Amino acid sequence: MNTIVRTAISLADVNHHYPGVIQPSLTGFDFSVERGATIALIGPSGAGKSTLLALLDGRLRNWNGAVSVLGNSLDAHTAPSRTDRAKTGFIFQEFALVERASVARNVMNGRLGHTGPVASLFGRFSQLDYDAVDEAIEDAGIAELADKRVDSLSGGQRQRVAIARCLAQEPELLLADEPISNLDPLSAEKTLKLLTQIRQKRDMTLVFSSHQPDLAKRFADRIIGIRAGAMAFDTCASDFTAEMYQDVYGTEAVADNALRLVG
Ligand SMILES: Nc1ncnc2c1ncn2[C@@H]1O[C@H](COP(=O)(O)OP(=O)(O)OP(=O)(O)O)[C@@H](O)[C@H]1O
Ligand SMILES: [Mg+2]
Repeated sequence: MNTIVRTAISLADVNHHYPGVIQPSLTGFDFSVERGATIALIGPSGAGKSTLLALLDGRLRNWNGAVSVLGNSLDAHTAPSRTDRAKTGFIFQEFALVERASVARNVMNGRLGHTGPVASLFGRFSQLDYDAVDEAIEDAGIAELADKRVDSLSGGQRQRVAIARCLAQEPELLLADEPISNLDPLSAEKTLKLLTQIRQKRDMTLVFSSHQPDLAKRFADRIIGIRAGAMAFDTCASDFTAEMYQDVYGTEAVADNALRLVG
């Protein structure tokens, strides 16, 4: 029988230490995420957001516990197979684009998980690859930029290229590490709106980290607060309060942000 796995992510008692670091980076992480959900991770610098995202992306080694992503159990000591890796897309904070290449070429790099490095080196892309790139560029709203070089683009436009590159991979799970931290307020909002629209259109699961509680509340279904490597709360976005925000970030420094949540 073909059972459809409705759980995108499941973590049971996950712990992790970076080698040589006394403080654990992840302690006792236990949660699961349904397919199709949008999850925001919030928490101060050093809390463990990027570490958790690297774990979900299959890049973290030597953790304890049980982790399952898109129905596949991750191994603490070996990287997932290329096929499994291609199912998860990652948008890096600093975009990680090839500056001197065109937008279209950067987006085509998202197909590497499907074509393999040798085929791509010789430019052997299939019609399927070109179609995936066209659709990704369309979904990211950058059709008019396709032939431009990345080093001629603004921060907001680069962010869309990074999103398109990720979409070309046709992932089922999209992970984004602070995707809006380098953007002005309007571009930040537009980017999250775009990501959540794309999530819906492509029926993906989306997990992003952010320091902006008001946008997390608006665009995520659920918010997980992380403090010093541990889960501080896991709440439905509509129940997210200024107190929860202050609980992870501390009370004084964040009064303005916390106040924005109240309204
Ligand atoms: N490669 C590494 N080697 C050793 N320690 C690390 C490494 N990467 C992160 N850490 C430590 O692990 C902890 C969690 O870091 P992480 O980068 O996950 O935090 P974060 O929540 O993403 O912070 P930020 O908001 O600044 O991005 C921190 O104490 C950090 O110093
Ligand atoms: Mg980080």
